[in-house]
Amino acid sequence: MMRTSRLGRIITTQSSLSYLPIAVVLLFSMMVLFMLFAARSNISPPHVHKPAFELNDEKRGELWTELLSWEPRAFIYHNFLSKEECEHLIKLAAPHLQKSQVVDPRTGKNTFSRFRTSSGMFLRRGQDKIIRTIEERIADVTFIPVEHGEDLQVLHYEVGQKYEPHYDYFTGKFKTEHIGQRIATLLMYLSDVEEGGETVFPSAIFNSSSLPYYNGLSSCAKKGLSVKPKRGDALFFWSLKRNGTKDPTSLHGGCPVIKGSKWSATKWMRVHKFELGNPL
Ligand SMILES: *[C@@H]1O[C@H](CO)[C@@H](O)[C@H](O)[C@H]1NC(C)=O
Ligand SMILES: *[C@@H]1O[C@H](CO)[C@@H](O)[C@H](O)[C@H]1NC(C)=O
Repeated sequence: MMRTSRLGRIITTQSSLSYLPIAVVLLFSMMVLFMLFAARSNISPPHVHKPAFELNDEKRGELWTELLSWEPRAFIYHNFLSKEECEHLIKLAAPHLQKSQVVDPRTGKNTFSRFRTSSGMFLRRGQDKIIRTIEERIADVTFIPVEHGEDLQVLHYEVGQKYEPHYDYFTGKFKTEHIGQRIATLLMYLSDVEEGGETVFPSAIFNSSSLPYYNGLSSCAKKGLSVKPKRGDALFFWSLKRNGTKDPTSLHGGCPVIKGSKWSATKWMRVHKFELGNPL
């Protein structure tokens, strides 16, 4: 028997009815399968970690890693920060800059020194959303958890200002015994510098002389392995060797700025978790 439905389609009443139970069974089993599948992914969610490609975004350009040296163990993360992130950190820091201090190895206290003539300030770890994003990115690329990071130090160097070569690990007994050693440093360049202001590793086994940018380096920077500041790039190096002993090749300094000015942000990382608000 055939008839025309209200929708104008021709349907066969007889066969429609006989297929109905099969269709219901099929639909039901599909639903069961779907629910099983959904339940399974609920029971064991895959461990989600940001894949490397998510570290890239249009504003920042491609993040890529360059091996700089094995002695010290040093790497450059190109395009680590976007222009906007650099400007944000400078804007937060600029009104609060104070003359920089150094750590007295005998007492563990901060003091002024001719050794270090920049000015700077600390932005609290996790202070705002942009800083938290940057700190998570640091943990992603260095494999050192956010909680091991100290507050973020923003530094400003004007013409003639520098930081003589020094170690980031504590040399005195005080800090190493009471709080724990620094393991590594990430130094982010927030500005380009027209001339000078390079980060130099005077004790590196490798020599800058073979680098393509050697001729553009200041005389200070030619005394070792050097990195030219480039806005958004980050220099990462380890202060300790893999067996936990101090690495003297991690000696580094900031060459005097010759032309322009230099902004940088430093994240020091500890062997242990670093308690926020700890004055040491
Ligand atoms: C580095 O290279 C320069 C120029 O080629 C050379 O004068 C200097 O002695 C080298 N330094 C070391 C430690 O090899
Ligand atoms: C640690 O490793 C360095 C080589 O990377 C080695 O020279 C040194 O003797 C080691 N120290 C200890 C205490 O194992």
